[in-house]
Amino acid sequence: MADARVAETAALFDRSAAYYDRVNTVICMGADLRWRRWAARRALAAVPAREPPASGAGKFPAPHVLDAFGGTGLVALELARRGADVTLADVSPGMMRIARGRAERRGLSLDLVATDLTSHPAGELPGAPYDAITLAFGLRYVDDPAELLRGLGAALAPGGALVVLEAVVPRGGLVAALAGAYFFDVAPWVGALLAGRGELYAQLTSTVRALGGAAEVLAHVRAAGLLTQERRLFAGGVVAGVVARPASGMVTSPASI
Ligand SMILES: C[S@@+](CC[C@H](N)C(=O)[O-])C[C@H]1O[C@@H](n2cnc3c(N)ncnc32)[C@H](O)[C@@H]1O
Repeated sequence: MADARVAETAALFDRSAAYYDRVNTVICMGADLRWRRWAARRALAAVPAREPPASGAGKFPAPHVLDAFGGTGLVALELARRGADVTLADVSPGMMRIARGRAERRGLSLDLVATDLTSHPAGELPGAPYDAITLAFGLRYVDDPAELLRGLGAALAPGGALVVLEAVVPRGGLVAALAGAYFFDVAPWVGALLAGRGELYAQLTSTVRALGGAAEVLAHVRAAGLLTQERRLFAGGVVAGVVARPASGMVTSPASI
């Protein structure tokens, strides 16, 4: 593992794995599951069209998707449920243990890789290159987001797309102010109460503040040499969703954020 910060993050998520999903869903009032479904749908919609199988026999190969910083598998399992062949990579064995158990219970298959994605290029993971890559709530954990995104872009097959979901500092009017007050002041307190410990929620707000707003996420995407194809804001602007492609794979023009 590359550095002390990554080791600390892995240990924090190992300690938090047992309650991570449940507490998140309570503090997000269930909306987090909708954001993750959006990410899975967009990733699969972005998969390049394939040649029909020779002589019309057999099935189309399943799209191969990497769920980077995949944690307990909420996005990965949604992808697998929709027929993708999924590699989940994460630095926390504790989080991935939850993903494995859940996959087994649902009769789904995930290829789990325990690794630090800031020091292990995604392009060298088993199964690369990928038709699509999802990165949900992981960007804020790295020192150099553009560098991480550049590495993920390099692990895409031609025509493939990267879908990023991230909590951000909301900017704008009253709705953004209210959403920000809930996210930064109320949610960490509720999370700490439900989990019985506050460390994960203190880190959630400090890492989001350090990452900045949706504009900063888009700037990292651009700095990584990726072009934004779609951008969305959820929950009053507290969560940003971005679909991006390496410049050569660009298909349509961006919507407004
Ligand atoms: C907030 S969780 C998000 C998990 C999942 N994507 C989701 O939507 O619930 C962040 C995840 O990133 C992982 N992570 C943090 N730093 C990492 C790194 N350098 N390499 C790989 N995974 C990392 C953590 O272990 C944790 O599971």
